[in-house]
Amino acid sequence: MKSVSVAEEWFTVRWMNGRLLIMDQRQLPQAESYVVLETLEDVFEAIRTLMVRGAPAIGIVAAWGMALAANQSVAGDTQKLLEELKLARDYVASARPTAVNLSWAVNRMMAKAERSAKDDRATIVLLKNVLIQEAALIQREDEGASRAMGEHLLSLLDKSYGILTHCNAGQLATSRYGTALSPIYVGIEKGKKFHVFVDETRPVLQGSRLTAWELQKLGVDVTLICDNMAAAVMSQHKVDAVIVGADRIAGNGDVANKIGTLGVALLAHHYQIPFYVAAPLSTVDLAVSDGRQIPIEQRSSDEIVKGFGVATAPEGISVYNPAFDVTPHAYISAIVTERGVARRPYSVSLREQMREVNP
Ligand code: MRU
Repeated sequence: MKSVSVAEEWFTVRWMNGRLLIMDQRQLPQAESYVVLETLEDVFEAIRTLMVRGAPAIGIVAAWGMALAANQSVAGDTQKLLEELKLARDYVASARPTAVNLSWAVNRMMAKAERSAKDDRATIVLLKNVLIQEAALIQREDEGASRAMGEHLLSLLDKSYGILTHCNAGQLATSRYGTALSPIYVGIEKGKKFHVFVDETRPVLQGSRLTAWELQKLGVDVTLICDNMAAAVMSQHKVDAVIVGADRIAGNGDVANKIGTLGVALLAHHYQIPFYVAAPLSTVDLAVSDGRQIPIEQRSSDEIVKGFGVATAPEGISVYNPAFDVTPHAYISAIVTERGVARRPYSVSLREQMREVNP
């Protein structure tokens, strides 16, 4: 992969003149720097090392990775190309385990390739083009889904001003607008203003490095707090609603999201503040009936004991560093997708929304 400079308005991921560009989110907020991902291995590394992160964004980049793999293949026939793509799918899907958008996206790319290859007239060139178009479609659909979530969430936030969010579920985590932050983006267009409290989000600081950065750039009234300040802010009646994203939503509505989300949900429940989850249907995994079955990524202890290079704990200390936790559906006031506002029982409402998409 190589660094490039980009002159235009910032973006998370873009296919430009046959090249896959992403913002290197590890450099934020110090620098807006971009890299070109040239191979499937680059895509895997970019996802694994959090250069690109956030469930929808890693799905989109992985889809482009499949298109790259196809376009760089020297397979002699379409069957051979499909075999290579299966390996590419399994490889890139293993980059991170929790966000289901990753496997959802590469499985969709694979299914598209297999369907297209069934046509007698299918050629390798055709399959390569089909996969570029499919990745572009996944990215466009994500933008549409985020926009729709923004509209649906705004209908719930009519009387709200103070919002609290955890992690980054903004434009940096999607194609555009974000999931949890979509009503902020869409609201600005409609003249609706919010004051957003942003949890710092230990240990990798997606809140302070990413959410605070993008909301400040947008001109939003934003206040950064440490994770352990959320209770105080809620007790002072400064928060009318909590909105978070999701990495995987089980069939019963249990939600895996960035570590710390569960604590925020419990606090919101205590203070009787609505707790909303925003996610596209590509984040809903009906194959998983409840949150206990969601695989939780464990990350390096270095993120906790020497995050950003400075030792903040004694050498050799034992560390537990799960990247996500699961919020039980009972603490979730609504799950907002591109299809609308799902309420309890989620085992019914989510299925109904999924049926509308895949009747
Ligand atoms: O480890 P990350 O930064 O990929 O975790 C991201 C989150 O937990 C987000 O809240 C989630 O993916 C929703 S993004 C729209």
